[in-house]
Amino acid sequence: MDHVRLSESGTSVIILDQSLLPGEEKYLELKTLEEMVEAIKKLQVRGAPAIGIFAGYALAALSKQQCRPQPIRSCCGASGTSDEVFLQEIQFQGDALKGARPTAVNLAWAVDRVIKAVRVEMFRARQEDPLRLNANAGARRLAEAAVREAKAIHEEDIQMCRSIAQYGLEEVQKICAANDHEGPIGILTHCNAGPLATSEYGTALGPILLGAEQGVEFRVFADETRPLLQGARLTTYELQKAGVDVTLICDNMAASVMRTGAVQAVFVGCDRVAANGDTANKIGTFGVAILAKHFGIPFYVLGPSSSIDLECASGSDIPIEERDPEEIKSKYYEKPMAPEEVKCFNPAFDVTDAELISGIITEKGVCRYPYKESLAVQIGNE
Ligand code: MRU
Repeated sequence: MDHVRLSESGTSVIILDQSLLPGEEKYLELKTLEEMVEAIKKLQVRGAPAIGIFAGYALAALSKQQCRPQPIRSCCGASGTSDEVFLQEIQFQGDALKGARPTAVNLAWAVDRVIKAVRVEMFRARQEDPLRLNANAGARRLAEAAVREAKAIHEEDIQMCRSIAQYGLEEVQKICAANDHEGPIGILTHCNAGPLATSEYGTALGPILLGAEQGVEFRVFADETRPLLQGARLTTYELQKAGVDVTLICDNMAASVMRTGAVQAVFVGCDRVAANGDTANKIGTFGVAILAKHFGIPFYVLGPSSSIDLECASGSDIPIEERDPEEIKSKYYEKPMAPEEVKCFNPAFDVTDAELISGIITEKGVCRYPYKESLAVQIGNE
């Protein structure tokens, strides 16, 4: 069952609440813009591609609500039925969704795609009615355009993840062959870039899940990923379910594990890749990349081309989300583990320098350093 999907009526979005995993598998039905924005902020839906897919469906569902004889409620105070009002409304909703989390570019990318599809439909209606007798496409037709685009975003993500998984698997098998490595392939990963963060295979976990289907043996080390424990709660949950050998470690144990020779490659996902290859991903990724460099272990970023933002020249242009200090001090503890008034710094992401990345694996293949050229060629080829 898809963990992010449009409800049967098309007027709400259903998600698996990731904040409760692995203890509870609970689905939520989200109907209002406020509920949808909160779900992103609270990480009930999370992972860069998944929040993009979610935002697409959120706009689709809210658009479908405009088709009811009595729209549930105007979010931006607009009223009437004309296409312009529809557009104002969806733009307001899109801005609210985009504002929920700033780092993952997929969120804004998906919102912009759905709004563009609506604009194109408005334009088509005008073209079809040269005398301007009734130049409105109407809410139903515009909502259908939003639904089609949201479904296309989801479908494309499934295809992209499959392709990333294939390229990643070939890459790690080449590394193992070049190093005469025998036995299970050791992978260290940080945070969660599996099916829950995307669709089907995931990105960083894609080669592992695809390999497992083909009988390739992996041994995965999952960083727990403080403070929100996506590695402990989600990566181990997904890999165990798929029957993959996974060992949970605290973030500060990665160096010791690497020193043993048990890690053939590091695979991580990404929230935004700048034009020069600098990559924002879950806080702690940068440290893992430095360790990998120290031990001579190849470090790969895996992500769809929708995570690449050529508008950001380098990592310093990527906005980094800061979150509530309580995530460090008290969340997931039985009682607070720091003095109440202590100062905290809680960035949700960090930026890994392009020089530390052995390859950026997208659905189109493996980009190599210098990334300015290789990424531009891949994206430019669209
Ligand atoms: O804060 P989160 O849990 O949304 O952070 C997720 C990550 O950092 C993932 O590695 C990234 O989004 C890639 S998911 C394919």
